[in-house]
Amino acid sequence: MALTGLMLLGFVLAHMIGNLKLYLGVVEHNGLNDYDANHYGHALRDLLVPILPRLVVLWIMRLGLITAFGLHIHSMYSLSRMNLLSNKKYTSKRDWIAANFASRSMRYSGLLVLAYLIFHLADLTWGWIPGYEFEQGAVQENVVGSLSNPIVAIIYIVANALLSIHIFHGAYSMFQSLGINNPSYNHLRKGLAIALALVILIGNVSFPIAVLTDVISLDPAALTVAVEG
Ligand code: HEM
Repeated sequence: MALTGLMLLGFVLAHMIGNLKLYLGVVEHNGLNDYDANHYGHALRDLLVPILPRLVVLWIMRLGLITAFGLHIHSMYSLSRMNLLSNKKYTSKRDWIAANFASRSMRYSGLLVLAYLIFHLADLTWGWIPGYEFEQGAVQENVVGSLSNPIVAIIYIVANALLSIHIFHGAYSMFQSLGINNPSYNHLRKGLAIALALVILIGNVSFPIAVLTDVISLDPAALTVAVEG
C-alpha cells in the first residue's frame, strides 16, 4: 500500500505542478505560438524522440501508473481481509472502532477518487463528456472548455478536496509503514502529511476556480496544432 501510494502521490504532485503551466498563457516554442500547457502536452508525447518513436516513453509511464494503481487497489483488498480477520482478536472496542473508521474512510474516499479519475479521463483525455468541443493535444482549450461549466468545476473542486483528505491519511500512514515512526519526530510526520495534502489541494482546486474567474483563459494569439495520441 505504502510503495504504490508513494508512486501515485509522486504522479499527483508532478501532474499538479505540470498543470501550473495553464497559468502561463501563450509562449513561442520552435517557432510556434501556442499555450505553454499545449507545448508541455506535446513534449510529453515526444519524450526521447528521435531516439525512440513518439508516445513510447509516455506509454511506459502510463503502464507504470496503471500497474501502481492496480496494485494499490489490490493491497486495499488484502489489507481489508487482514483487518477483518484480526479485528476478531481485539479486546478493546475503542481501538477497534478507531482503526476501522480510518481504514473505512480511506476505502470510501479511494473509491470516490477512482470514480473521479474515470470521469476526468473521459473528460480531458478521451473527450467523451459533452458540453465543449474536445480537441486532442489542445490542453488549454480543453481545460477552459470543460471547467467553465460550473457543475463540472464543482465536481473537480469536491473530488480534489476528497483526494487531499485521502492523501493526508495515506501519507501519514505511509511514513509509518516506511519506518518513520519514532515519537521524537512523529509531529514532523503529521506536519509533512498536512503540507503535502495542502499543496496538492491548493494547486488542484485553483484550476477550476481560475477558469471560472477568467484567470486561466483563452488568447487569440495562440495557434494550436492538433496532435495524435
Ligand atoms: C483540477 C485538477 C486537474 C486538472 C486541471 C487536470 C488536467 C488534466 C489534463 C488537461 C489532462 C490531459 C493532458 C493531455 O492530454 O496532455 C489530464 C490527464 C490526466 N490526469 Fe489530470 N488534472 C487534474 C487532476 C488530476 C488528478 C487529481 C488526477 C489523479 C487522481 C489526475 C490524473 C490524470 C491522468 C491519469 C491523466 C492521463 C495522463 C495520460 O494521458 O497519460 N488528474 N489531466
